[in-house]
Amino acid sequence: MSNVEEIELPPDPERVIVGLRDTGYEFNTAVADIVDNSIAANATKVQLWLASDLRGNVRLTIADNGDGMDRAGLINAMQYGSKVRPNAASLGKYGLGLKTASTAFCKRLSVISRPDGKTPALMATWDLYHVAKVNKWSLLLSEECEVEALEQLNAVAPNHAGTVVLWENVDRLIKDYQDKTGAHARKALKQKEDSLRNHIAMVYQRFLDPKDERAQNVVIALNGKVVDPWDPFQRGLSELVAQETVDTELSDGRKASFTVRAFILPRREDFPNEKLASAAMLSNDRQGIYIYRENRLIHDADWLGLYQKEPHLTLLRVEFSFDHSLDDAFHLDIKKSQIILNDDLASWLQNEFLPAPRREANNRSRDGQKSAISKKGASAHDTSNNNIRNREAAAGGPEVNVTDPNTGEVVVKNKHGPQRLKLTISTAKRPGEVYVQPVDSIKNGLMFQPALIDQHKAVQINTSHPYYHKVYVPNLNRSVTLQGLDSLMWALSVAELSTVQDSTASMFQDMRYEVSRILEKLVENLPEPEIDQNVA
Ligand SMILES: Nc1ncnc2c1ncn2[C@@H]1O[C@H](COP(=O)(O)OP(=O)(O)OP(=O)(O)O)[C@@H](O)[C@H]1O
Ligand SMILES: [Mg+2]
Repeated sequence: MSNVEEIELPPDPERVIVGLRDTGYEFNTAVADIVDNSIAANATKVQLWLASDLRGNVRLTIADNGDGMDRAGLINAMQYGSKVRPNAASLGKYGLGLKTASTAFCKRLSVISRPDGKTPALMATWDLYHVAKVNKWSLLLSEECEVEALEQLNAVAPNHAGTVVLWENVDRLIKDYQDKTGAHARKALKQKEDSLRNHIAMVYQRFLDPKDERAQNVVIALNGKVVDPWDPFQRGLSELVAQETVDTELSDGRKASFTVRAFILPRREDFPNEKLASAAMLSNDRQGIYIYRENRLIHDADWLGLYQKEPHLTLLRVEFSFDHSLDDAFHLDIKKSQIILNDDLASWLQNEFLPAPRREANNRSRDGQKSAISKKGASAHDTSNNNIRNREAAAGGPEVNVTDPNTGEVVVKNKHGPQRLKLTISTAKRPGEVYVQPVDSIKNGLMFQPALIDQHKAVQINTSHPYYHKVYVPNLNRSVTLQGLDSLMWALSVAELSTVQDSTASMFQDMRYEVSRILEKLVENLPEPEIDQNVA
């Protein structure tokens, strides 16, 4: 084995620098990677400009008033595989972010920086055309800085250290429009800007919010407008339903901990006002686990493969926070946007931590549906009431007179003569609702019962009964079906009054009880109604 030959084999510059464009960055993630560098350099102000010039060429600048870099620092920054940062907690970790995030979208990356207010700024550029042409790792350095970018540096860091990252020849952000300055291209760029603003608002929320003391304060502006923080957990409006800090021991014996918190947001109708409700961005999409590393959101809104998203869990958002000591344990990836849960942690989340918050979120969402149903359910029976009013005389039925309104004693004059009975006596809750009245509950869980409403023979229908939920609810918007169901209930009630005798009253009641019980069994396997579609 002695005659092993050792040769140095540097990678082919063009193949590597072009190949590294395809590490799978999304635009928002890529820009956040650059902003991470500004925050790691202690910037208190970061200004981003995303715009296209008169010819429609897109350019992006990210200027900060951070520590800046001298010549050696700048050269190190541009190297693929920059030196390891001294601070392990820093958001930078691999020495690649600046380069790979940028060239994922542009073919010309420049960094202009100065280490203090006096030293003139220096510009370093990776130009992918140039690298390909000379096929060398050939970095361009110049004291003549790109004018506009330098102006932006001076604006954010007047007489101060600072850095500007400049993307030119941006070829992968929006598609190549025929008319690069036309309305379509401008609209596409505006969409990118809006989405970037939302992303920054969410990812750096703890940094942007001066009241949040967990992270240093930074003001970030995009195209001249300060980005406001967005809290996925809507603290102050939501409820913290579970929280746990878990201590673990790393493979090298060091101790580390992470924290998990489950928040349930109010239902849309329970927000103090519509503005706050829409700011909370309640949607199926936004449920799930939000992962924070060192206070910066690195991954948002999914169940990490543990569950599917489902409408009943829209109100549940879970915070998962850890610090850099757990980077290796969670297999933080190069874009720092994903972690891999080990089996223990996955099973702890799935079997111990998450079940209770999920159940609670589920219940609240169903309670909300119930109240939505009873709202819609209320007016849904109006047509039935109108129809019965018009046909009441033709339908016939016995005369009913109240003898004691307090106890509900009545005399029903039916074909067997006057019968003394007890009947539910009620008043209309809506105009004209004197024949069919939906109610929240009926004693013994009955599906329906005869009643006397404002002197009219009526039926009360129990909206909490499973039959109502499974059969009525999907049909609340179908007038004929609903009138059919309601007519049947009313007919059964009036028929009961027509045929009941003092001695058979309890049999009728028994019969209704049995009917309700059987119906409950029969509807058990019917599908859950799609509430949102039916209860608009
Ligand atoms: N805005 C900035 N201000 C000061 N120094 C910077 C700035 N941006 C980058 N640097 C320097 O350049 C180096 C390389 O940055 P780069 O983003 O490529 O790697 P990193 O941040 O160390 O790690 P990662 O690949 O995880 O982002 C940084 O370590 C830092 O020293
Ligand atoms: Mg970085």
